[in-house]
Amino acid sequence: MDSVHIGDRMMVDVIKSGTILPKVMANEANTRMEESKDDAFYYCDIGDMIKKHQNWLKLLPRVEPFYAVKCNDDTAVVQILANIGTNFDCASKGEIKKVLDLGVSPDRIIYANPCKQQSHIQFAARNGVAMMTFDNMDELHKVKNCYPNAKLVLRILPGEFKSQCQLGCKFGCHPNHALKLLKKAKELDLNVMGISFHVGSGCMEPEAFPAAIRLAREVFDTAVNLGFSMEMLDIGGGYPGDNLGPVSFKEICEGINTSLDQSFPPESGIRIIAEPGRYYIASACTLAVNVISKRTVSRDNQDLKDPDDEDAVCNSLPPSKNEEPAFMYYVNDGVYGSFNCLMFDHASVTPTLMNDRSCEHEYSSSIWGPTCDGIDCISNHSLLPELEVGDWIVFENMGAYTMAAASCFNGMSKPTGHYVIREEMLKYLPVLPYPHHVTSCRQEETKKTQYGSPSAFKYGSPSKEFYFKELLPVGVGIGH
Ligand SMILES: Cc1ncc(COP(=O)(O)O)c(C=O)c1O
Repeated sequence: MDSVHIGDRMMVDVIKSGTILPKVMANEANTRMEESKDDAFYYCDIGDMIKKHQNWLKLLPRVEPFYAVKCNDDTAVVQILANIGTNFDCASKGEIKKVLDLGVSPDRIIYANPCKQQSHIQFAARNGVAMMTFDNMDELHKVKNCYPNAKLVLRILPGEFKSQCQLGCKFGCHPNHALKLLKKAKELDLNVMGISFHVGSGCMEPEAFPAAIRLAREVFDTAVNLGFSMEMLDIGGGYPGDNLGPVSFKEICEGINTSLDQSFPPESGIRIIAEPGRYYIASACTLAVNVISKRTVSRDNQDLKDPDDEDAVCNSLPPSKNEEPAFMYYVNDGVYGSFNCLMFDHASVTPTLMNDRSCEHEYSSSIWGPTCDGIDCISNHSLLPELEVGDWIVFENMGAYTMAAASCFNGMSKPTGHYVIREEMLKYLPVLPYPHHVTSCRQEETKKTQYGSPSAFKYGSPSKEFYFKELLPVGVGIGH
């Protein structure tokens, strides 16, 4: 397999067009097993992230993405996004530092946590990260003390919408209270310059964004009437990361564009930004876990089953001769690791196998994480062919809210990342940082003409010309 080095730290494997990722991962897994390396690992498809960005620019041409680092703070992921031109939503000093350390300028960051630690605000002040959200009185006093020149963005409560993770229970000023809060900001001589909202992560109602944008317009006008110079609307996160959910990204974008044109038309000159997290990274990452232990149990034994869970495979009794067995598989990543998404992100995951075994008989199977805790269950019922210790199970769409919150509970190690790009996406590699070189002989000769000059992308955003000429596919343009 050809490889491309990105600076000193990152190596990206180039995979052939049309090859399916689990197949590539199967080769990797075989090599690993030969070397007795059976730890869980990720494949991160950089091309998938680039395509997502192209799609964003095409479908939301007026909206600048500020990637929510909390979603997946892997350094390589953040670096790639920095260099294809997203900006960043940071929740803490740690995230701000991570992004600044990669050479991103502070004006490409919004500190989008309405309840901040004082020392973190001071860090933002020292480093010129001026844009930050607030939604309560105490925050205004803190900002007055720590960073009086901050560019403040009032986060409002946009109403309740169906979503994977509700955020309104914790953040957002009710629009009825906005006037009071804005008056206090005026009294303290603070600089409020924008309104933000978040409709909830993994939003399932396309109507949510238009409703929230209309509400934001009302609060915007309140702020203008109080004399604030309002420059920006931040429409938050909530966009789908894969195409498995009930609402498509395209559908959401149509609603956003129409309502932006009504409430914040281009001639208003208002800057529109967003804070997408899972959109950029969910589908880029595929996780492979190894079966480290196996238990054959009775499928039909009802004694130990949860009565509400018809098919749950969870008992320790062996099957009798006449029963079809069920299997419990123990794998080396679980809910204390990447699968914390089952708890915190209310995610659902689907196990598949690296190689096609569709003609084999399937058994009721449950999949468990590696720790000694009984709660550490990934799936209590899946239909799978019989697996053996040492086999691999694959989970797609594992990039969002997985590794970022993983722990090493019970001393278990976190999976390592492996970066790949498909051949046809190689031409977009000039967006990656630092001078890089191609290791394979076949590509050595093309590197000068094909990869352009990466130095232009080391700091600040790539230029508009770059988007037109290099990043956007033919026929796609940006509107601002
Ligand atoms: C303030 C803020 N912005 C953006 C996001 C990203 O949301 P999503 O991943 O749904 O796009 C979150 C997620 O919790 C958030 O809290």
